[in-house]
Amino acid sequence: MEKSSTGAGSTEVRTAQQQDSLTIVDNRTGKRYDLPITNGCIRAMDLRKIKVEDGDFGLMSYDPAFLNTASCISKITLIDGDLGILRYRGYPIEVLAEKSTYLETAYLLIHGELPNRSQLSDWTYHITHHTFIHESIKKFLDGFHYDAHPMSMLISTIAALSTFYPESKSIFSAESRKKQTYRLLGKLPTIAAFAYRHSLGLPFVYPDNDLSYTGNFLNMLFKTTELKYHPNPTLERALDILFILHADHEQNCSTSAMRGVGSSQSDPYCSTAAACAALYGPLHGGANEAVLRMLMEIGSVQKVPEYIKRVKGGEVKLMGFGHRVYKNYDPRAKIIKRAAYEVFDIMGRNPLLDIALEVERIALEDDYFVSRKLYPNVDFYSGLIYQSMGLPVTMFPVLFAIGRMAGWISQWEEMLLDPEQKIARPRQVYLGYGQRDYIPIDDRV
Ligand code: CMC
Repeated sequence: MEKSSTGAGSTEVRTAQQQDSLTIVDNRTGKRYDLPITNGCIRAMDLRKIKVEDGDFGLMSYDPAFLNTASCISKITLIDGDLGILRYRGYPIEVLAEKSTYLETAYLLIHGELPNRSQLSDWTYHITHHTFIHESIKKFLDGFHYDAHPMSMLISTIAALSTFYPESKSIFSAESRKKQTYRLLGKLPTIAAFAYRHSLGLPFVYPDNDLSYTGNFLNMLFKTTELKYHPNPTLERALDILFILHADHEQNCSTSAMRGVGSSQSDPYCSTAAACAALYGPLHGGANEAVLRMLMEIGSVQKVPEYIKRVKGGEVKLMGFGHRVYKNYDPRAKIIKRAAYEVFDIMGRNPLLDIALEVERIALEDDYFVSRKLYPNVDFYSGLIYQSMGLPVTMFPVLFAIGRMAGWISQWEEMLLDPEQKIARPRQVYLGYGQRDYIPIDDRV
């Protein structure tokens, strides 16, 4: 027996069993099981000893969409959804957005610590010197139709990188992982910008290594006839902040795809292509594009109540609202809203902003949204900034992918180095037919 504090100065005597274990009584057999609780979890494999007969498979848990299943132990990102807290390696997102750069944040996520000056300059040097892509990739991009969605171009081109770097299959070599990390972080903005230029029929702009990570991205997107592109510092900083805010978000759909595909020991380019594909969907990174389309469809402030009525009737979703984990205002949305005004000061106020503000005002007062704890998420305001910068809606999920790259790499590496991880392979509950006799085609109804 152990003494333990139960708070407020009181102590009580509890048995070791009572302390960190879960007692289950199986009413089918009357048997009792004590399962250890560690870090607030029971191990799903411990359920397997709960059987009716010796030969049984044992009990499983059923959790479609992983609403209550932890798939890994992680030390990278913390989200407290009730309190609206997001931290990377212990640092609050608000502090990183104010004081850090995207490349510093990427280093933090991947290495676990903020870089000192020399580490940061080394890191920046290597990423900057991997921004060029093989000339054949340009030909590859040229093969897409002029109206191909840039996210599909990005997904395919990242997968194609695997053919250029076959040595990336050595995923257990730290040296190789380091090299692929430089390449992925360095080349993603180049591929994204080339995809954008291709859709406009404009010549590709090569990376300018004198510029910052984000400044160079703006250069590759927007340079025209000038000899040297000078990014506007406010826009450069705003985009850098957006990349920081998108850099990681623990076990979301795309990160789970990165880990899941990576768990079969695919190379990092194929795993990243899978993560990008997961990000593309409108319920995930495609939501920023969907928000803009929704605001355009609403069309005016006066029509917001009518649209909200349709949402409450279950006809449409309010895009950019709600989150699996946040049951409070998404802390990233607050920061983005502030950054949006800085961009509007330079580029002019986005006319859709008033519609967005009215949607938010009504939703935050309406019982439908309040009772379901639906608040604006990261995607609600980010699209307004991108649009004001002159980017088409189809580029929005691509921008999300650039930021999320750092998180995908750090989570992929954590998975690879975790001795408890194996190939991801969920179970199922089979409720289909038992064995059936084959019916020849002429006898089928
Ligand atoms: N509009 C209207 N109703 C909603 C919305 C919404 N955006 N989101 C959730 N609900 C309702 C939902 O219908 C359900 O109602 P009821 O209890 O009556 O059936 C309730 O709220 C709970 O929703 P849920 O579908 O169980 O929540 P989830 O955790 O499965 O889904 C979500 C989370 C983000 C997919 C969802 O909120 C959604 O589809 N939002 C719109 C798309 C979006 O903005 N996605 C970006 C997410 S943040 C960035 C990222 O992860 O990429």
